[in-house]
Amino acid sequence: MRMLFRRNAAFGAAHSISSLPNKRIDYRCIVTTCRAVLLPRFGGPEVLELRNDIIVPDLKPNEVLVRTRAVSVNPLDTRMRAGYGKSIFQPLLPLILGRDISGEVAAIGSSVHSLHIGQEVFGALHPTAIRGTYTDYAVLPENELALKPESVSHVEASAIPFAALTAWRALKSTARIAKGQNILVIGGGGAVGFSAIQLAVAAGCHVSTTCGGESIDRILEAGAEQAVDYTSLDIETKIEKQFDAVLDTIGVRETERLGINLLKRGGKYMTLQGEAASLSDSYGLVFGLPAATAILLKKQMQYRYSHGIDYYWTYMRADDEGLAEIRKLMEAGKLKMEVEKILPITEVKQAHEDKDKRRVIGKVVLEFD
Ligand SMILES: NC(=O)c1ccc[n+]([C@@H]2O[C@H](COP(=O)([O-])OP(=O)(O)OC[C@H]3O[C@@H](n4cnc5c(N)ncnc54)[C@H](OP(=O)(O)O)[C@@H]3O)[C@@H](O)[C@H]2O)c1
Repeated sequence: MRMLFRRNAAFGAAHSISSLPNKRIDYRCIVTTCRAVLLPRFGGPEVLELRNDIIVPDLKPNEVLVRTRAVSVNPLDTRMRAGYGKSIFQPLLPLILGRDISGEVAAIGSSVHSLHIGQEVFGALHPTAIRGTYTDYAVLPENELALKPESVSHVEASAIPFAALTAWRALKSTARIAKGQNILVIGGGGAVGFSAIQLAVAAGCHVSTTCGGESIDRILEAGAEQAVDYTSLDIETKIEKQFDAVLDTIGVRETERLGINLLKRGGKYMTLQGEAASLSDSYGLVFGLPAATAILLKKQMQYRYSHGIDYYWTYMRADDEGLAEIRKLMEAGKLKMEVEKILPITEVKQAHEDKDKRRVIGKVVLEFD
């Protein structure tokens, strides 16, 4: 018979997990159910349900059970809640939202060797995971976690990995940026843009950015050489350089035009707003994915012919080497993220509403007691 714990009993049990000797244990004899924020259907923040009776699943050999301390709210969370990706997620409802996490290892699968029970870890789930991190006990593959630097709080650690891995994928894996190159980040005030600036600065690049006026000081302090308010009328003439790579986190027509025009021949333009998911949502996977591929190929050919540049849709991917480098930069104080608002997980609806209505521009983090 499955034992059901009341919420507080489960918390007490979780603490006792971390004080147990460092060996694989059947954590399910200690905690079988936990709290989680469920998404039973797509809609506004009101559809989110905080439940106490969510089963903690069996761990696969490569998986880690993390006792959550903090999760951050990413645009993907609010977009998924509203129906983005429904072509994939609709049949899988109810699902648990959340990508980013910081917490403690509560249990490990049989083939996990790099992490031990009780260690403080942080990381991010890949974009298509259906059991997300808005839960007392989250399950992540070993390669999507790293040890949390001691100097960084759970709150800040939870605000970094998804955004930084997205920036890493674009700059390091796609553009292969190198020391001395000129990089433009469009949308440098946001979490991905700000991470990208810091990654490029750490790689020895010269970084320019467009951002909201309020972000300019923070961005220059992080090492960007130029920060231009995106509401200026003449952005293109203010940014005089030609760039080796442009990361466009906004990805609308005007920012695409700006980024493409400011690239050198042979440069790389990367947008985070690829159309594969939105077209699949509108037309179904069978028609949407081929349509997206056709649009991408057309743009790639068009820009290669007209400007001599490479055009990419870039996406967050799990990357253990990237996460290890991100961790090192965090530890060295070279990769930081300001958190604008911290709320308890019980106020998850409020957090989503704050982001939807743009009442809070910076990062919102949900804490677990
Ligand atoms: N493809 C992927 O795998 C992937 C992964 C992560 C994120 N994303 C997407 O990338 C986008 C950014 O994510 P995020 O986490 O960085 O979001 P975020 O933290 O909410 O940042 C968005 C920022 O964009 C700025 N902005 C808005 N319009 C702008 C413009 N025309 N020019 C320059 N800056 C502008 C805003 O600055 P102000 O506040 O100053 O107005 C805001 O700070 C989101 O749309 C997200 O869904 C995609």
